[in-house]
Amino acid sequence: MLSVVPTPITVRVPAKVNLHLAVGDARPDGYHDLVTVFQALSLTDDVTVVAAEESGIEVRGEGADLVPTGPENLAWKAVRLLAERAGKDPDEPGVWISINKGIPVAGGMAGGSADAAAALLALNQLWKLEIGRDELGELAGEIGSDVPFSLQGGTALGTGRGERLVPVLARHTFHWVIGLAKDGLSTPEVFGELDRLRTDNGTNRVGEVEPLLEALASGDPRQLALLLGNDLQSAAVSLRPVLRRTLRAGVQAGALAGIVSGSGPTCAFLCTDADSAVRVAAELSGAGVCRTVRVAHGPVPGAKIVSEESAH
Ligand code: C5P
Repeated sequence: MLSVVPTPITVRVPAKVNLHLAVGDARPDGYHDLVTVFQALSLTDDVTVVAAEESGIEVRGEGADLVPTGPENLAWKAVRLLAERAGKDPDEPGVWISINKGIPVAGGMAGGSADAAAALLALNQLWKLEIGRDELGELAGEIGSDVPFSLQGGTALGTGRGERLVPVLARHTFHWVIGLAKDGLSTPEVFGELDRLRTDNGTNRVGEVEPLLEALASGDPRQLALLLGNDLQSAAVSLRPVLRRTLRAGVQAGALAGIVSGSGPTCAFLCTDADSAVRVAAELSGAGVCRTVRVAHGPVPGAKIVSEESAH
């Protein structure tokens, strides 16, 4: 029986978009070596953890019904991993996790990874473990390739599976329109489709990352727009041909460039400024090719505790 009213801890965590995603060949362990540049965007999830007699996960917000609440939820993996690290029984007392989704589900924006990163940070506080950011980052990498970036945020160069990170200089704010698709895509399926396309007829590969890093440092969205590239885009479009129309519609609406976000099917459109993003979003909504259209900006910070602020 809990004798005191438990204090909940809420963490806000951002979505990501890959500005550059170069995918190497499949490795023996089933993963692909990546060279990628992540940017954290202002679409966020709020994850609240609280000690409870019974453990469980509840999910609210957009696409909540598509999120698993069982052991396959990545936030749950975070609970188990951190409990193991701390030599704690995660069921004594239990942990209740509430997730309020603002990040598209199964959209290639690391929504599940973001929830795992948020759970790690929140439980570190709830259980008073005082594990430092570096070790949390290592634990994050064991949960999934994108989880360390969700923790770190900002703009970063990722290598390995995407989990080895170096911060990238990007002092300027970039403005994005995010086009959500009607259904999600499975990340392993998109990687598999890329392997298949490459075996069958080859596909173009994105170039070196350095010019994009220079464009980020310059802060000029026009320069950046010319250099956005994603090797997974051809695979996502092959599985979901309608994405070609979505990408075209965003550029026709006035965006500088459009790109499939990660493994898709969400599309991200870079705009010249905040006003232009609002105009592009309105026009893209009217084109009827997306389920929902959002405006976002980046870079924003990674997972952070917001218990005292108002959680959404
Ligand atoms: O690391 P994570 O569990 O998020 O990856 C999900 C799936 O995406 C992997 O099982 C793998 O099929 C694919 N993947 C990959 N190469 C990467 C990252 C993910 O093939 N670098």
